[in-house]
Amino acid sequence: MKQRIVAGNWKMHTRRGEASDLVAGILHHVGQLTLPDSLDVVVCPPFVWIEQTVAALHGARSMCPSVHCGAQDCHEEISGAYTGDVSAQMIADIGCDYVIVGHSERRQYYGESNSRVARKLRAALAAGLRPIVCVGESADERTSGRTVDVVTQQINELVDGAGADALNASVIAYEPLWAIGTGVAASPEQAQEVHHTIRVRLTELSAPSTPILYGGSVNALNASAYFQCADIDGALVGGASLNADVFVSIVSAAVAAWNE
Ligand code: PGA
Repeated sequence: MKQRIVAGNWKMHTRRGEASDLVAGILHHVGQLTLPDSLDVVVCPPFVWIEQTVAALHGARSMCPSVHCGAQDCHEEISGAYTGDVSAQMIADIGCDYVIVGHSERRQYYGESNSRVARKLRAALAAGLRPIVCVGESADERTSGRTVDVVTQQINELVDGAGADALNASVIAYEPLWAIGTGVAASPEQAQEVHHTIRVRLTELSAPSTPILYGGSVNALNASAYFQCADIDGALVGGASLNADVFVSIVSAAVAAWNE
């Protein structure tokens, strides 16, 4: 069974009450859908709201067994003098199942290299988490025709640092930088083309079933077109995941596409 995932990355948004209203809204609506067994829904709140989010998910477990909590980042070490950081083990301890690593905002604002992302990937797997590893090209890289090279290089460096086996247990999110938070989403054809390249590379690495999510200005109107594409297995949603109705519309599009 091919696995599909719709994940919401809340980034540094929501006050405490908003975070609890958001997860309550998502659970309420998702509870009314019949999710295929192959579909996971993941919410990734800021670290400080993980505990209350996990508690809400546990409370709704019988109605919404497929809704999971994820963190937005983790440190690559198990513990140590890293002020302000949070380890993958801590994230697992608090009840998360997933963690995003290598988001382009981490790469851009915190200088995270491919090799550091690979170490985070390894740490996440060692802690029993499922990493959602982000890759993607900048606008300049796309216009100069380097998209495939950039994405392939990102995947190759993940393999160098974490081993090919790591990709089998991971999720890849293709997120072109120019589409993130801009409202300029990649067309389904543009996304499918890169997803296919990623699929071919993953297949060479004996990880043909690793889910590949598209991220970058996904919304309630465009989601279903992505889910029709052969190599798109879900979405990593930023802005549109902050509204329960909109996020659940995207989940509904996934249910309609994959209710098998
Ligand atoms: P966006 O963000 O949906 O707001 O473009 C996606 C992401 O950064 O994961």
